[in-house]
Amino acid sequence: MKILVVGKGGREHALISALSASPGNVSIYSFPGSDAIFDLAQPLPSEDGPLGSVSSLVSAMQREGIDLCVAGEESYLVREEGLANACQIAGIPCWGPPKEAAQLEASKEFAKEFMLRHAIPTGGYHAVDTVEAALNAIGEQYPTVLKFDGLAAGKGVAICPDRESAEEFLNEVLEERKFGDGRLLVEEYLEGPEISIFVSVVDHDFQILAPARDYKRIFNDDQGPNTGGMGAVSSWEMIAPDLMKVIEETIVRPTVAGLVNDGLPYRGFLYFGLMLTQSGPKVLEYNCRFGDPEAEVVLPMIRGDFAAYLYEAARGSLRPDLISIADGWGVCVVSASAGYPASSRTGDLISGMETVAGAQVFHAGTRRNAQGDFETAGGRVLVVSATDSSREKAVARVYAECEKIHFDGMQRRSDIGVKNF
Ligand code: AMP
Ligand code: GLY
Repeated sequence: MKILVVGKGGREHALISALSASPGNVSIYSFPGSDAIFDLAQPLPSEDGPLGSVSSLVSAMQREGIDLCVAGEESYLVREEGLANACQIAGIPCWGPPKEAAQLEASKEFAKEFMLRHAIPTGGYHAVDTVEAALNAIGEQYPTVLKFDGLAAGKGVAICPDRESAEEFLNEVLEERKFGDGRLLVEEYLEGPEISIFVSVVDHDFQILAPARDYKRIFNDDQGPNTGGMGAVSSWEMIAPDLMKVIEETIVRPTVAGLVNDGLPYRGFLYFGLMLTQSGPKVLEYNCRFGDPEAEVVLPMIRGDFAAYLYEAARGSLRPDLISIADGWGVCVVSASAGYPASSRTGDLISGMETVAGAQVFHAGTRRNAQGDFETAGGRVLVVSATDSSREKAVARVYAECEKIHFDGMQRRSDIGVKNF
């Protein structure tokens, strides 16, 4: 079986590692891939130059006889020419939803309307176009949550404690148009621990794979600016079975039923970002892909035939019997480059990776230099991931292995999995 994984980061490296560990005869391809990924997967051959567009990508898949396309990241799914839509026309099973359903991630307003329509618990909101309308919607309710409804490289969300900070953000977004055109959502501020749930969805069927938590801030104790994620923890023990049942019945099942009801076929991972509030779990956001770095901590815990599982699922048959999720805990820790998240320095030589044992190293932003050695090539550089029978053991293991890796300017939190439990 020939499988293409689309993406190039740590999540895709983890997906490809899990697929490589499958028992069947699997050839893995990657696009756009990275130097580290190409140690495990081959590049998708291209005849007519770089494979930039969805159609050129799908043509290359057809030429190569790809049996399954796995979307790691969302960007190709949400394009005008959606990856899953184009795969469907070409008759290639795709793990990742059509662009219409991927709106759950691409448009915050679409997601809110979907939740309202299907009575899925979430915070209240108003969608507005002007600063005045936003201030009216906020009234005296501070803190308030303001979200630009469009692409903003993770910078489109502000939690504003007072009117002054809200006005500043609103002016940037709605007057200066810092992120371009798009509406803004004023959302109810929700409080509680945050948790994410990763689910395989196949039309009307679903399987909850695991809960996980990521650590978004750059510094220990959740200080400093938001990042793409500085580490993650996963275990079925993170959530009491009763609460998981509530999440399944009030959030996951109605979401899957809602997709069917709205005529939005969905085959792919669905990521539920939740806030566990005093009045029950509520949805903060959906993503139509696995989380990154959550994939790096959940996927190493999958046993069985992951390749056959995704192949069958993409063809419409959810087969939980093909995989199992290991007991215990997974913890992963990100090493980021100097300057991240405001900027990222590249070209710093990475040492010590070859001495890591008993943990996996996923490459998020590296490349080989002229000598063939790995150096930094992005904000998040490496993700070290370990699994063990308890959280404490997994934390000790992952940090012992992290100690072996070094590059200049390296930034790494030392409290992943240690606090907030
Ligand atoms: P988002 O981009 O929607 O995932 O938001 C980024 C982060 O902002 C979330 O992970 C939360 O920590 C926080 N956040 C988003 N929405 C809310 C909300 N309604 N109330 C409180 N915090 C929120
Ligand atoms: N770790 C957050 C995300 O993947 O969106």
